[in-house]
Amino acid sequence: MANFRISLAVAVVHVVLYRACNALRCNCTTTQCQKTGSQCETDGACMASTFFSNGQEQHIRVCITRDRLVPPGQPFYCLSAEGYLNTHCCYTDYCNSMDLKIPSVTPPPELGGGYGPGGTWGLVELVAVIAGPLFLLCVLLLVSVFLYHYHQRAYNHRQRLEVEDPSCEHLYLAKDRSLQDLIYNLSTSGSGSGLPLFVQRTVARTIVLQEIIGKGRFGEVWRGRWRGGDVAVKIFSSREERSWFREAEIYQTIMLRHENILGFIAADNKDNGTWTQLWLVSDYHEYGSLFDYLNRYSVTTEGMIKLALSAANGLAHLHMEILGTQGKPGIAHRDLKSKNILVKKNCTCAIADLGLAVRHDSATDTIDIAPNQRVGTKRYMAPEVLDETINMKHFESFKCADIYALGLVYWEITRRCNSGGVHEEYQLPYFDLVPSDPSIEEMRKVVCDQKLRPSVPNWWQSYEALRVMGKIMRECWYANGAARLTALRIKKTLSQLSIDEDIKI
Ligand SMILES: Nc1ncnc2c1ncn2[C@@H]1O[C@H](COP(=O)(O)OP(=O)(O)OP(=O)(O)O)[C@@H](O)[C@H]1O
Ligand SMILES: [Mg+2]
Repeated sequence: MANFRISLAVAVVHVVLYRACNALRCNCTTTQCQKTGSQCETDGACMASTFFSNGQEQHIRVCITRDRLVPPGQPFYCLSAEGYLNTHCCYTDYCNSMDLKIPSVTPPPELGGGYGPGGTWGLVELVAVIAGPLFLLCVLLLVSVFLYHYHQRAYNHRQRLEVEDPSCEHLYLAKDRSLQDLIYNLSTSGSGSGLPLFVQRTVARTIVLQEIIGKGRFGEVWRGRWRGGDVAVKIFSSREERSWFREAEIYQTIMLRHENILGFIAADNKDNGTWTQLWLVSDYHEYGSLFDYLNRYSVTTEGMIKLALSAANGLAHLHMEILGTQGKPGIAHRDLKSKNILVKKNCTCAIADLGLAVRHDSATDTIDIAPNQRVGTKRYMAPEVLDETINMKHFESFKCADIYALGLVYWEITRRCNSGGVHEEYQLPYFDLVPSDPSIEEMRKVVCDQKLRPSVPNWWQSYEALRVMGKIMRECWYANGAARLTALRIKKTLSQLSIDEDIKI
């Protein structure tokens, strides 16, 4: 063992001495070495490396002096620097003659890889490499936050419903029940004032919005889908919370449900953390409003009577007080106009937009909210509303103002009636007397001071249905509200007309 150690030490000393005395010989490709037969001698190491010049693979072989072999163990000169590949240092004679060819490497356009002058990556690639993963990370983060909130909301929502009435929800919302089933059962068996609140919320939150169908003063109206059927969703802006609340409240008046009043389904206020979404869900009518319908189509005599009679029917129901515990208060609409009446598939009307309505408490002869002077749409305001002479303590006054507006709607319908192959183009009432968005003052001058009304053409006298409609209108437009027809009276006159005209309604 001792002998072995001694011989190892002797060998090491020999190598060191050999290095000190005999220089290492290497292959050399530099121009200086051309004189020495492409060889060089060094006390350090032989080095070989590859680089690309003009797309061509080039090899470099040189001597490295001992003092340049720093840091020891991993000298800089022996590493592949920018633009260099396959760099080796070795320590035996001509050891750097090894094969440096790089198999199947596509020569980069410039020298080597990496970004910068002579690098393969441009600024765009570098940005992509850095920004790509960052972007993905952000997307993942956002998706996780969204999922977390979604689950949290769904969980809270379930919790709330369970607190309200765990036993009933599945009963009402069994998968096979349609909206019509739900509402029919509740209006025939229950209070007649609509779905229980927790069912309303569940229905509203499972509606999938499809497309926007209109915009009004208070927000947007969308078509939505619920269990394979269409519904209309009126989305109020958050500052219109009072209008949303009031409209939902009126729609849920006991016994209001009627075939000629828009069918209310649900109200929901959803807080998404940033803002409150206020939804009012109702039946969807693909013809849209009466205004849309009359703009698009003319009507037959039968069509005119159907529209007029159904509108009167709806208004009569709204105005009527039903006595008894399951009774209904009288309600005045206060914003009746062709845009607030919808046309159903069977071409009858459904009165909508009850947000400005007032209810009458006959026991105390009071109105359920303090009514402000002039609400509604200026063009349709009755003369006593325009000149502020309306007696607001008297509920009947509001009904009379509705009748005035109904008369204007009848004028819009009757103009579109095809009689003897003639009909007029669609126009808004007073189109020829006031500008497109008239002020109260402009309306007051025409309606109160000049006492003008939309013109009833003489030729309407030649057709019984048109004559009757013309007469009804005039009797809706008296300056004195109390002298106007009632909705019930109009309904009776039009029912008689439909019998005379042999129309099945
Ligand atoms: N239930 C519904 N089914 C089908 N379309 C509807 C329904 N409700 C509203 N619309 C459409 O949406 C439009 C906008 O209705 P919205 O009541 O918001 O405004 P508007 O009646 O036009 O004006 P205003 O704000 O003065 O009432 C209507 O004109 C109608 O075309
Ligand atoms: Mg409206």
